[in-house]
Amino acid sequence: MGKGSFYLTTPIYYVNDLPHIGHSYTTIAADALARHERSKGKDVFFLTGTDEHGQKIYRAAHDGKETPEALVDRVVDRYKQLWGRLSISNDDFIRTTEPRHTERVQEIFKKLYDKDDIYLGEYEGWYCVPCESFWTAGQLTGGNCPECNRTVERLKESNYFFRLSRYGARILRHIDANPDFIQPEPRRNELRNRLLSGADDVSVSRQSLPWGITVPMDPEQTIYVWIDALLNYITALGYDDDGERFNRYWPADVHLIGKEILWFHGAIWPAVLMALEIPLPKKVFAHGWWTIEGQKISKSLGNAIDPVTITEQYGVDSYRYFVLREVPFGMDGNFSYTMLVQRINSDLGNDLGNLLMRSLTMIEKYFDGRIPSPRGSGEESAGLIGCAAGLETKVDKEMDSLQFSLALETIWDFIALTNKYIEDSKPWVLAKNDRPTLAITLYNIAEALRLISIYIAPFMPETSQEIFSQLGIPEEDHRQRTERRWGALTPQTGIKKGKALFPRIETSAQPA
Ligand code: ME8
Repeated sequence: MGKGSFYLTTPIYYVNDLPHIGHSYTTIAADALARHERSKGKDVFFLTGTDEHGQKIYRAAHDGKETPEALVDRVVDRYKQLWGRLSISNDDFIRTTEPRHTERVQEIFKKLYDKDDIYLGEYEGWYCVPCESFWTAGQLTGGNCPECNRTVERLKESNYFFRLSRYGARILRHIDANPDFIQPEPRRNELRNRLLSGADDVSVSRQSLPWGITVPMDPEQTIYVWIDALLNYITALGYDDDGERFNRYWPADVHLIGKEILWFHGAIWPAVLMALEIPLPKKVFAHGWWTIEGQKISKSLGNAIDPVTITEQYGVDSYRYFVLREVPFGMDGNFSYTMLVQRINSDLGNDLGNLLMRSLTMIEKYFDGRIPSPRGSGEESAGLIGCAAGLETKVDKEMDSLQFSLALETIWDFIALTNKYIEDSKPWVLAKNDRPTLAITLYNIAEALRLISIYIAPFMPETSQEIFSQLGIPEEDHRQRTERRWGALTPQTGIKKGKALFPRIETSAQPA
């Protein structure tokens, strides 16, 4: 269709521990965006995966008395199962232990070494294992890791270094010339400030850490896990021996990440790409952090919520809706069961679920379960039809700036307007004295529902399918399932009223 490609990625997650709400958040956001872009006719490539090397995983395996191989194979399945459960539509899943990755990482490392962007040196400083980060004494806060505040370890080893210092000024210029490159703005400012205070060369190998990709010219060393991990974004595209996929999708349109890993994605990654003479990604978006009932998610607090448990109890689409609706993308957010249940009962149950139920009940009652054939569209409907006409531009704009919560708000404004249209037009009165207007009104309500179903599809794919199917629109009827123009709903379609979409949850119902 010539609408272009769209490449988006999530971070590849560490497999030292099971996935929690934070990991699912980035992946759900990426999925909503991928589905939206596909609906616009883009040739989308959506990548996620797992980061399987490094000291943290090596230690976790040791502590759990299993081999790193066994640990990563066990945990990666949990990630894959979770993405299946959450209706994640990724096009590929890369594991950093796969030969398609490891072989290419070695080639790239060698290339950088040959260009003198990597050299052998001596590292003396601090290392945070949970963050897999090198720190200088001056960067520590109160002697701890400035990122996660945990204890750091002293390191003195012979290491390979990457010449980040060569690229710092160029990256700053790129950030300034491309305001969209690093988003949102407060994160861009933080990154700029850190770059302004200096970008020293970074250590990119570890001595005597066996769980990693071997440095090609020095078998005693393994490649630093962050260099290994960042390269996934291009090795998954076959860089640089499968030109077809790489040329088709690179540069990435969006790398979605959490704010704690912006330095790696906004400084080190661009520098590596510059050294390789590859264009930079168009956008890196660093979203905020979730807390649980006001507390940081942590292994030691044992408060990590398993998304499988939540979705078993509350449903997949409710969960997807909640995380994207509750917090403006980019800001920190707090997960609370009370808020989740409130949103399910009000936004999903009352506003959307009841709208579908009452509309279909009226079509059953007044038109024997067939969508009526309207004559004209009715003067009272101008507001509803006008709002429907403006939806596409508004939602597209909000999705383009990754404002998922605003896009949902826009869609919910339209749902509210449809509910108001029912209240104002009073079909139950029209049924007694004005059948022609009743036909117009119920057609319009069903048409509004068809559009709502199209717009919620990227966020709530199962619910969207369910609404189409209750409206009686068959799966293969591509036109009715995608046409955003008013009036595409075919009259006389037999509806198939089904179960309530979001049955009310009693507020006391919470997992133990
Ligand atoms: O950092 N709130 O992996 P990771 C929101 N392997 N998002 C959260 C979150 C929270 N509380 N906790 C985690 C790594 N995330 C590296 C990445 S990429 C080349 C390598 C999400 O398993 C968020 O996207 O620690 C964050 O950046 C990511 O999980 C960190 O996952």
